Amino acid sequence: MKTILITGSNGLLGQKVLYNLLARSDIRIIATSKGVNRTSQKEGYIYNELDVTDEVEIRKIFTQYKPDAVINTAAMTNVDACETERETCDKMNIESVEFLCRICEEFNTHLVHISTDFVFDGVKGPYSELDKPNPLHYYAKSKLEGEKRVENCKAPWTIIRTILIYGVVDDLNRSNIILWVKNSLSQKKVIRVVTDQFRAPTLAEDLAEACVQAVMRGVTGMFHVSGEEIMPIIEIANRTADFFNLDKSYIVPVSSDELKQPAKRPLKTGFILDKARKELDFKPHSLKEGLAIVAEQLQARKI
Ligand SMILES: NC(=O)c1ccc[n+]([C@@H]2O[C@H](COP(=O)([O-])OP(=O)(O)OC[C@H]3O[C@@H](n4cnc5c(N)ncnc54)[C@H](OP(=O)(O)O)[C@@H]3O)[C@@H](O)[C@H]2O)c1
Repeated sequence: MKTILITGSNGLLGQKVLYNLLARSDIRIIATSKGVNRTSQKEGYIYNELDVTDEVEIRKIFTQYKPDAVINTAAMTNVDACETERETCDKMNIESVEFLCRICEEFNTHLVHISTDFVFDGVKGPYSELDKPNPLHYYAKSKLEGEKRVENCKAPWTIIRTILIYGVVDDLNRSNIILWVKNSLSQKKVIRVVTDQFRAPTLAEDLAEACVQAVMRGVTGMFHVSGEEIMPIIEIANRTADFFNLDKSYIVPVSSDELKQPAKRPLKTGFILDKARKELDFKPHSLKEGLAIVAEQLQARKI
């Protein structure tokens, strides 16, 4: 039986990895996150609080459970906050990764680490794993530094870069593009959505499956994993509105210049998925299928 450790299990991806593993029978799951467990399902796994910026605590967990693999979903993910809170961002996105690498080497644990399309400058997306990163903002720089730490790790490692994750989380305080658009339009709130940034929205379940496949297949190296449809963010919003039959007149199109986000975003990302398809058997859902999965999960929660 494999023992798999999840960091950041309260987060969007962390929860989906946890649910993915719970559906399998041959795995001992150790879910960890900062603070109390906010995943609704509490049975079938062990939960331990773990702040990944604390090396001593990570080592304690490894010593206790000796994981075969760790799926590291914990990160500081608020891009604009990373711009101003650089020290915290460094601690989370670089230093904690360094700790995990060191401890994975000691225990010969497979490290699956998650990174981002934002390592690229967005000038000539879609990108393959061989393209050269050129991060535009502090979050992206910190994630690229985290990647470098993993690439130097002597334990088996996999880096999975992804793009704009969406899905339903148990802790509904945390939003993402689809939930934000749906909730805002349902409440007749005007939202300003960018027209000139292109992304490939990624269903959290698809990404979780890729992370688990990396562990099960023992596949190592760099992987690009995302939805396969690349579109302007405003189209994601429009398609969401159409799917949920909501009034699109509350969506106000704006350019990146008008939006003035503190951290400058790359214009066009998107990934070439050939390597993930071949080595991880990655088969992403279309946005339409993903929206249907989101709708079903919201309905089950009566939202
Ligand atoms: N979301 C996207 O669109 C996107 C796009 C590209 C790449 N990524 C990458 O994908 C990965 C997963 O993202 P996500 O959207 O699932 O993020 P998320 O929902 O923000 O989840 C991250 C989790 O990490 C936890 N965390 C924060 N600080 C921690 C600490 N010191 N120790 C332990 N856990 C801590 C958070 O806890 P709290 O819930 O208590 O804050 C949260 O539950 C990240 O590496 C991110 O950089 C995300």
